[in-house]
Amino acid sequence: MITADTETLEVFYAHTISPIFIAIIVSISVSLFVGLFASWRIALVAVAFYLLIGIVVPVITSGKLKESGVKYRKEFASFNAYFLDSIKGVRDIVINNAGEQRKAEVNRRSSVLLAQTKKMKHESAKASSLTELMVSTAIIVTLAVGVVLVATGNLAAYKMIVAVVAVFGSFGPVIAVSALPSNLTNTFASGDRVLDLLAERPAVTEVTNGKNIEYENLEVKDLCFSYDKNAEVLKNVRMNAEKGEIVGIVGESGCGKSTLLKLMLRFWEKGKGEIAYNGVDVDKINTSNLLDNVTMVSQSTYLFDDTIEENLRIAKADATEEEMEEACKLASVHDFITTLPDGYKTKVGVMGDNLSAGEKQRIGLARAFLKGSQLILLDEPTSNVDSINEGIILKALKEQKNKKSIILVSHRESTMAIADRVYRIDKGIITEV
Ligand SMILES: Nc1ncnc2c1ncn2[C@@H]1O[C@H](COP(=O)(O)OP(=O)(O)OP(=O)(O)O)[C@@H](O)[C@H]1O
Ligand SMILES: [Mg+2]
Repeated sequence: MITADTETLEVFYAHTISPIFIAIIVSISVSLFVGLFASWRIALVAVAFYLLIGIVVPVITSGKLKESGVKYRKEFASFNAYFLDSIKGVRDIVINNAGEQRKAEVNRRSSVLLAQTKKMKHESAKASSLTELMVSTAIIVTLAVGVVLVATGNLAAYKMIVAVVAVFGSFGPVIAVSALPSNLTNTFASGDRVLDLLAERPAVTEVTNGKNIEYENLEVKDLCFSYDKNAEVLKNVRMNAEKGEIVGIVGESGCGKSTLLKLMLRFWEKGKGEIAYNGVDVDKINTSNLLDNVTMVSQSTYLFDDTIEENLRIAKADATEEEMEEACKLASVHDFITTLPDGYKTKVGVMGDNLSAGEKQRIGLARAFLKGSQLILLDEPTSNVDSINEGIILKALKEQKNKKSIILVSHRESTMAIADRVYRIDKGIITEV
């Protein structure tokens, strides 16, 4: 949308305004010339056809053209989205043996798009043939008027020839204006989509005129939250975390554990209640400062199509090699990285495809260690890791906790064993256990 639609808009500004002016200037000049040099009657005929071709025809055709243009854009976007989605999910399509089914749907949508394309082309062909018809009529009428004027002795033959040739040659610019609607419909559809995009409002707006803090403790009071107005995910949640402790959160799948962590990072606007760092509510802390103080390892780590080193550096742009190695040792992934042919300079492939789920997860953890935030939120940090590596990670977490707070979400008993205190969420209600 951003590249293709914006390009269409560029074409509008660069190639729509000028043809209109060119058509006006050329039409006026030719009419004046023909009127002054030969005959005002021929000039009048020319003006009538300029208006017909440049204004009446486009007004008549634009309605249908706009309709088919908007439909075409919609089909085009929906086809693209479906196709891209299929490519991204190709592995799951294969696993479920749903290839034929998906292909049939791609073909069906492709046919719909083709039909819509044909319809649009048909409309624009009808519009341009109407223009051509008008131009031919104009030529015949001008010539007829000229011949009559010469035959009745009102105009010299050579003047008639000059005038008629001048009129014949002057339709180019009005034809260009007449063709504008077929380009414009696409442009308006693109414009609408870009405006819609610009009108999107983020779920939360960044805080920039708030306070800066240096994390000491977290206190959540009477926190309520729901994604949509109906079902409340969290009800009157109360919890706290101090420096030097590991706080565990357990609960059934879907009970709102990840949601709670996301609220601590202010990914969503909370409902009622308070999430206070050092007594300052999260809504009053500058977002950038908040993200320096708090970091999260989410349930799925995204790796960019780049080297391991660059993937680590998003946590700390100016990290030295020693710092990166240190973080990777804590996350129990350093030994693995050194076995790779290019070590830290190894490319991880698109979406981290060359790494196993556990390796990706440990790189996500290494990012959190490298970031050096005072509060670390860990959402199932060891779910894909074997018990030996988990042991190493948990030991590292324990060593880190003196200086930091760690909030740990996990289903595993072995992971929870390192927590100093554990909260359980059940149907949105939290209790310390
Ligand atoms: N962006 C969202 N929009 C609407 N509902 C959501 C959204 N994200 C999560 N939910 C819903 O909110 C509830 C809590 O989800 P959440 O991810 O916090 O669960 P969880 O406790 O982390 O589960 P799990 O242990 O499976 O990771 C679920 O019912 C989920 O379907
Ligand atoms: Mg979760």
